[in-house]
Amino acid sequence: MKVNQAELVISAVSQQQYPEDPMPEIALAGRSNVGKSSFINKMIQRKALARTSGKPGKTQTLNFYRINESFMFVDVPGYGYAKVSKKEKAKWGKMMEEYFSTRERLRMAMLIVDIRHDPSEDDQLMYDFLKHYELPVTVVATKLDKIKKGQRAKQLKRIIDVLEMEEEDKLLPFSSETGEGKDEAWGIIKPYLKK
Ligand code: GTP
Ligand code: MG
Repeated sequence: MKVNQAELVISAVSQQQYPEDPMPEIALAGRSNVGKSSFINKMIQRKALARTSGKPGKTQTLNFYRINESFMFVDVPGYGYAKVSKKEKAKWGKMMEEYFSTRERLRMAMLIVDIRHDPSEDDQLMYDFLKHYELPVTVVATKLDKIKKGQRAKQLKRIIDVLEMEEEDKLLPFSSETGEGKDEAWGIIKPYLKK
């Protein structure tokens, strides 16, 4: 897909701030520092529209990016970062619950995991949480550039097994570094963007 327009509409912490534009939304989810913001940047060919960082915890709000005046990518703060207080964790939980449980125009979630590692317990909880809301989930196994080709198939199978992925959900190998998987990602997203 050719992206002609991409802009941050709002960084929201609560429902009242969600954009009113009636557009389909695709939300990202995943551990801190796994590469959610980098995924968005690669998909829209902007180096740094979504802020990324070598340190975990960069994204702290729900960031709504309007793409081609037709849909939104919603960048979501990551989980599983050890240095987070109980209070912050509770705030994060409330923000996630509020968005995922109420947002009718949310069409699909992309759960980003690191292809080098087995999904964590938090990843399993997040997958189950998304399925609880009956959302289609695409699991994106990112940082593909960081493993040997011979390891790919084995790691992809581990991800399916550990998450106990449902038949209907897709698994996509991806790299924000090389762009591998990008066309396939658009292929998966497109059917969800019909109004
Ligand atoms: P939070 O906002 O903290 O939850 O992190 P995030 O999931 O948005 O991660 P972010 O996109 O900021 O990326 C974290 C780090 O991983 C950055 O240093 C990126 O450059 C790096 N990174 C992300 N994707 C890839 C990838 O596919 N390959 C490689 N080699 N590095 C990546
Ligand atoms: Mg981020």
